[in-house]
Amino acid sequence: MTEHPVPGPRPAQRLGTPAGPLLEVRGLTVGYPIPDGESVAVRDAALSIGVGEQVALVGESGSGKTSLAMAVAGFLGGSARVTSELLAFDGVPLDRNPRAGVARRTPGMAVVFQDAMTSLDPVWSVGSQLTTVVRSATRCSRREATERAREWLVRVGLTDTRRVLRSRPYELSGGMRQRAMLALALAGAPKLLIADEPTSALDASLSRAVMELLQQLATDTGTSLLIVSHDIRLCQEFSDAMVVMYHGEIVDAGPSAELERTATHPYTRGLLRCVPDLDARHAHRLPTLDTVDTGVGAELVRTSVA
Ligand SMILES: Nc1ncnc2c1ncn2[C@@H]1O[C@H](COP(=O)(O)OP(=O)(O)OP(=O)(O)O)[C@@H](O)[C@H]1O
Ligand SMILES: [Mg+2]
Repeated sequence: MTEHPVPGPRPAQRLGTPAGPLLEVRGLTVGYPIPDGESVAVRDAALSIGVGEQVALVGESGSGKTSLAMAVAGFLGGSARVTSELLAFDGVPLDRNPRAGVARRTPGMAVVFQDAMTSLDPVWSVGSQLTTVVRSATRCSRREATERAREWLVRVGLTDTRRVLRSRPYELSGGMRQRAMLALALAGAPKLLIADEPTSALDASLSRAVMELLQQLATDTGTSLLIVSHDIRLCQEFSDAMVVMYHGEIVDAGPSAELERTATHPYTRGLLRCVPDLDARHAHRLPTLDTVDTGVGAELVRTSVA
């Protein structure tokens, strides 16, 4: 693949805590064993996230977003190979090679998985899961924890708190589950929340509402975000910086508001042109990636964006 300059995300908004980025990744490679060797899902990735910074990781299906995010989180399965020149969180270097040991939670890091039901335990009520998280983050009585759990539900827009606290995840709608999941992730007061496709199961208006909520809560609590998504436009609106992946490599990175101007890779430029502009005065037929002249050859021509 041609070399493309990858500017780092915009300098983080500093909130007065540690100097330097909260998360720093350099030279991260993820490989999975296949019968005749290894399939490299992420190649030589670099990114950094500042304190309070909200970063979106975007790219088409199979581009390596989840592999990168879960390697950072330390949740890749035992057969994966993770190597890096540098992987440091909150100033502490981390060894993320799953072969080095069993995956365990990293203090200060919370993860929302691609499917809401994976993040929530189907056996326990939302209330008991939420109070457990609250009590593990702050020493408080059961009664206080229930009160904080109730407050978190209100913050994520679930006002029927009595019912939600008693409900098991499968008794809630998809949108309610997604909100409960955000409450669960943020109630532990993480420094960094990694959310893998937090809105993929929702319709367009709910996706927007959940992204807006996530951005607002992260801003209020000073939590840094790494949001994995394939929705480049939604991310452009709801993140400070964007990292674009294509075929396992980071091909563009920089401030979200300037991506249109700064994107250098034909994939990113093509993708941006395929998204409808609601302000456009005259309706015109949208290009798809197979009609956009991306200049990266037949490989990309296979993909079309709905
Ligand atoms: N456990 C695994 N074993 C072998 N190959 C894997 C494994 N997990 C992912 N892969 C491969 O790695 C590549 C990247 O997958 P990954 O799930 O990281 O992509 P993604 O960008 O998150 O895709 P999506 O948008 O569909 O979630 C794909 O080719 C996938 O088939
Ligand atoms: Mg994924």
